This record gives sequence, structure tokens and C-alpha cells, in this order.
Amino acid sequence: MTETIEFPRRRPGQFSPPDEYARLRERPGLVRSALPNGSTVWLVARHEDVRAVLTDRRISASPLREGFPTIGANGTVPSPEAIPGWFVAYDPPEHARFRKALVQEFTVRRIAELKGPVQRTVSARIDAMLDAGRTADLVSDFALPVPSTVICHLLGVPYHDHELFETRTRTLVTFTSTDAQRTLATNELLVYIGKLVAVKSRFPGNDLISRALARGTLTPREIEGVALLLLIAGHETTANNIALGALLLMQNPQWIGNAGVVEEVLRYLSVADRVALRVAIEDVEIGGQLIRAGEGIVPLGAAANHDEKEFAGAAEFCPSRSGGHHVAFGFGIHQCLGQHLVRLEMTEAFTTLFERLPGLRLDRPAEELPVKHDGVIFGLRSLPVRW
Ligand code: HEM
Repeated sequence: MTETIEFPRRRPGQFSPPDEYARLRERPGLVRSALPNGSTVWLVARHEDVRAVLTDRRISASPLREGFPTIGANGTVPSPEAIPGWFVAYDPPEHARFRKALVQEFTVRRIAELKGPVQRTVSARIDAMLDAGRTADLVSDFALPVPSTVICHLLGVPYHDHELFETRTRTLVTFTSTDAQRTLATNELLVYIGKLVAVKSRFPGNDLISRALARGTLTPREIEGVALLLLIAGHETTANNIALGALLLMQNPQWIGNAGVVEEVLRYLSVADRVALRVAIEDVEIGGQLIRAGEGIVPLGAAANHDEKEFAGAAEFCPSRSGGHHVAFGFGIHQCLGQHLVRLEMTEAFTTLFERLPGLRLDRPAEELPVKHDGVIFGLRSLPVRW
């Protein structure tokens, strides 16, 4: 008989994935899970099975498909119907049209050109913290504004509007938001971005949105959806990695400056654990389990990234480890478009933070730090520090 467990599960602390994941990896087949909205999905926990799900053409990323999962009790993820150009939810061949139109903006070489602006953003935030005294909240004063400013710079979005897109993004990625709140947040974001794209089509600047409009391979409506996806994907995930990564380094100062820190923070924390939702569109076998067409699937990134078969001593934070390919950015055709930018931002953030504030330490007991259990993306709500 198939076992059914409840999902989502809570993390036991600030770093480790839910305890249940180890058992899910070890048992044969897959586990069926009951979601808060009453629907059921298959949970996929082993590294090789997660990669199999994310590369199988019989499995779709489209919320328009019957049986696509919704993790929260209310609301759904934005659909390509509501937001044309929301290409993370497109399947082949349509998906490739968007990747092709955008990939040139995110190559290693193009992202390296952003090193100066990223460095200046990081430095300006640290200057402001130093000017304000000897304490700060590393989430609101540093971890969030750095990626927010950088994604604004890349897209050509005025940073002074950050409150608007940060608060609406939080509504969209919080499970407890109601349908009405989600619809309102989506509409407000669409109105905002629609106006911005309209202005840029008349007065182009040196930014991604203006370049996409000039190339003309995507329609202005599609560019609105793309810009919205990049704006949302571009700040919250990175912010949570920077804040939690800084906490890990304050607690493990022996690793500060190690070249493997960024990759290990991404693997170890796997904050975007439940981002890649899928549904089978044909019967398919994964991990020895038959999944029927129309059944939802949740590939658990954090479970895969803590699989001993791929990472020896997976439960240890060990930046000097070698081997193993984490799936913190997903895998297959939807693998994170912004990953080189993330690496640049995290590298600059950790390096400069600990160089300029060598006495950086926690200003509250670690076990009292408030965490986000109610969201698609795991993270800290605040991180009080002093130096
Ligand atoms: C630490 C930070 C980040 C993490 C952990 C992360 C994680 C992910 C994951 C797991 C996916 C796969 C989703 C799926 O398969 O359904 C994804 C896709 C995506 N990410 Fe990221 N992401 C991060 C930052 C960023 C940034 C900074 C940007 C933009 C500048 C970005 C843009 C995207 C886009 C556009 C996709 C969809 C790609 C596609 O469907 O082809 N992400 N990300």
C-alpha cells in the first residue's frame, strides 16, 4: 500500500532540511503526500530521481495542466495564462523561444560585466551600515537590498520602487496568502511593469527590458511577463542565501574566504526546495514508482542535495568538499537562468562583508532568530548583528 504523509514539512532549525527527508530517500519507491488544500502529490527525494523528474519530457512544468500541484492552502502559482511570458511555467517547444531570447543576457561573460555595479552595491550597503552605528539587521540592511538593487540595475527598474515589488513578491511566495491577496499582488505588479515597459518602448535605456524590446523577438506583453519573472526570481531567493550564508559563516569562521563557500551554501541550505513543481502528462516510472498521467510531483531540492549517494557527509557544511552536483538551481531545461549572477552576488557579499566587518557577530541567540516556515522559499525574517 502507498504511504501518505503530510507536506510541507518544517525544518528542524535554520539550516537542515526537514528530518523526514532522510527516510523518504531510503524507502523504496516514492511517498504520496497530502497537501493542505486536500490534493495529493508524489514527493521525490533521491538525487538521481529528482534529476530524472526534471529532465523527463513526459513531465510538465505548466500549471495549466490538470493535476498541477499547489502547495499552499490557498492560491496558485502565477500561470502563463495570467502572465504571458512567465516562461518557467512553459513546456517545450514554447519554453525554448524564451530561453533563446534571454540567454545572451545571462552568460558568464555578460554577468562578469556586472561585477563593478555589484561591488558598488555591496560597498554602499556596508558604508550605510557603518554610518548608522555598530548594529544592523543583516536581512533588511544588506541581504535583501543587495540583490534587489542589482536586479533593478539589470532590468532598468527604478530601485526607489523596491517596496512595491518586494512586498508583492512576499505575498506571492507565502503559503498563507489568500487568493484575493495573490490576485491583487499579481495585478499590482502587472500594472507597474506594464507602465515601465511602455515607457521603455518610447525612451529606451541601457537595460535588459529595453534591449529585449529592441530585438523584437518577444512581444511587449511577453516582455512584461519575463521582466516580472526576473524581478521576482531575482531578489528573494538570493537574499535568503546571503542572510543564512552569513549566519553559517559567523558560526563557522574557519570557512570565511574559502573558495567553495558559495556553492556549499547553495547546496547545504537549498532554500528554493519547493520551487520546481511538476505534473505527469503521461504515465512514467520514477524511482521504481509508477506515476500516472495527471498526478502532481514535488521534486525536493533539499532532499536531493543531502543525499549521501551524491555527497559524502552530506549533513556537514563543508566548503572544501569535492564532487557532487547540487540541484539548488534545479536541473534540465528550467535550470536557473540567473545562476551566474547569484554566484557573483554571493561571492561579493560574503567577501566584502567579512573583510570590512571582521568583528561581525550575532546580536541575538541563534535559536531565537525568526525563520520563514510559511513560504515557498526558506529564509530568515531578520538577522540582528553587531561588530
Ligand atoms: C540563490 C538564488 C536562486 C536560487 C536558489 C534559484 C533557484 C531556481 C530554481 C530551483 C529554478 C528552477 C525552477 C523549476 O525548475 O521549475 C530556477 C529557475 C529560474 N530562475 Fe532562479 N534561483 C535563484 C536566483 C535567481 C536570480 C537572481 C534570477 C534572475 C536574475 C533567477 C531567474 C530564474 C529564472 C528566469 C528561472 C526560470 C528558468 C526557466 O524556466 O528556464 N533566479 N531558479
